[in-house]
Amino acid sequence: SAQPSREPYREQFHFSPKAHWMNDPNGMVYYQGTYHLFFQYYPNGTTWGPMHWGHTTSKDMVHWQEQPIALYPDSLGLIFSGSVVVDTDNTSGFGKNGQVPLVAIFTQHNQTLEKAKSDKFQYQSIAYSLDAGKTWTKYAGNPVLPNPGIVDFRDPKVRWFAPTKRWIMTLATKDRITFYSSSNLKNWTKESEFGETLGAHGGVWECPDLFPLNHNGKTVWTLLSSINPGGPNGGSATQYFLGDFDGHTFKPLTTKTRWMDYGPDNYAGVTFANTGNRTILMGWMSNWDYANAVPTEGWRSTMTVPRELGLQMADNELYLTSVPVKELSSLNGKTATLTNLKLTDKPQDLTARLGGKATTYTLTMTAPAPADVELILSNSAGNELLIGYDKASNVYYIDRRKSGNVSFEKSFARRSTAPRLSTSKTLSLSLLVDVASVELIADDGLGVMTGIFFPEEVMTKLSIRSSSALVIPKLSCTQLRPALP
Ligand code: FRU
Repeated sequence: SAQPSREPYREQFHFSPKAHWMNDPNGMVYYQGTYHLFFQYYPNGTTWGPMHWGHTTSKDMVHWQEQPIALYPDSLGLIFSGSVVVDTDNTSGFGKNGQVPLVAIFTQHNQTLEKAKSDKFQYQSIAYSLDAGKTWTKYAGNPVLPNPGIVDFRDPKVRWFAPTKRWIMTLATKDRITFYSSSNLKNWTKESEFGETLGAHGGVWECPDLFPLNHNGKTVWTLLSSINPGGPNGGSATQYFLGDFDGHTFKPLTTKTRWMDYGPDNYAGVTFANTGNRTILMGWMSNWDYANAVPTEGWRSTMTVPRELGLQMADNELYLTSVPVKELSSLNGKTATLTNLKLTDKPQDLTARLGGKATTYTLTMTAPAPADVELILSNSAGNELLIGYDKASNVYYIDRRKSGNVSFEKSFARRSTAPRLSTSKTLSLSLLVDVASVELIADDGLGVMTGIFFPEEVMTKLSIRSSSALVIPKLSCTQLRPALP
């Protein structure tokens, strides 16, 4: 079989499974020096099918080593999305002789009940590992949270809430979030519901997460909820709410709908458990609108790079920010820096001045704001991917309408936009380009867009233009080495 790194569209510093179908990240946990990423996986095909938990591990969130499948479907159903916790105090009792169990909490989807037209075919089950995540034993008492009669009842994200000494489960329940609590991960009590009349409601809510972030010494609780469809640029996307959580209810600070990533391809993202003061998210770099149709061969889907989440004020409002983790810099190769670059309306080819043809790199630049600026990734087949800032509508954009193969699904050829939230007079923009994906991080993580693309040939040419006579104080490009095994 072909070397993975030679496969067309295979990202080189992002995790993708060697073969077959992947969707949501699951059970992300840091334990004894290893980051674990489980994922929705169908090991017998390259489109969505009966779900398992695939597994991959890493020492640095950058170099991943795929592991054997962690959870297989059983008589209770398929293994849908969920989380893993480190049960330090052995509240579950699964630990023997002082062992600390890792406990996975996940949805089981029962296709027999679904076919029988029951509305109770999704419920929550648990499994534990006593060998640091290598092997898992399902609990004999599953399911631990039966379905009360809600068709969409899934994706439990569990965390310890110290003030009440209880586990809190954040669960997606159709068009809202329901919080449950437990002292032992086995018996769950409903606490409250959130979101029926808030946020976006163009689709079903999925894959939530709840975590505290620090803002100037104050704790702000962040609630993520993916939604499909109904995203700001069509299809799947992740909205968030900032507020307060007391172990029982979530009280939002504002009622506006906000998106964690405005690009088309960051879905079902959740955070690692047990990473101390850092809050690190990875998302599925695809969209249900076309995930099953993208033209990769042998596998489908890639995860975003891990991103560190934070908070930032802009225009008197608090926002969630995401920036790539610093660990990625271990891949840094040669850097080229250009200063006082004069732009015109005509695209200027920077390829040679930035160190030659590359398909994996990070580019950072600053520009006086507001003024149009556009980066153009292209190839000799005439494919173009446009990434930029548009002054007239004050948005960032990724335009992949002419990026190559866009015909596999009609909604793929889109120009996606993100409002610029920052009012700073300096626009700062960075890109992570990896063969067939781009992650745009603007204004220190306030403006984030992720998009995948499928050029007919790799895009190694990089040009820049602006509709006004603009001087870019600084633009630098660092080539990134591949991180594939
Ligand atoms: C989100 C999702 C989850 C579900 C899983 C099934 O992408 O629909 O709600 O658990 O995928 O694979």
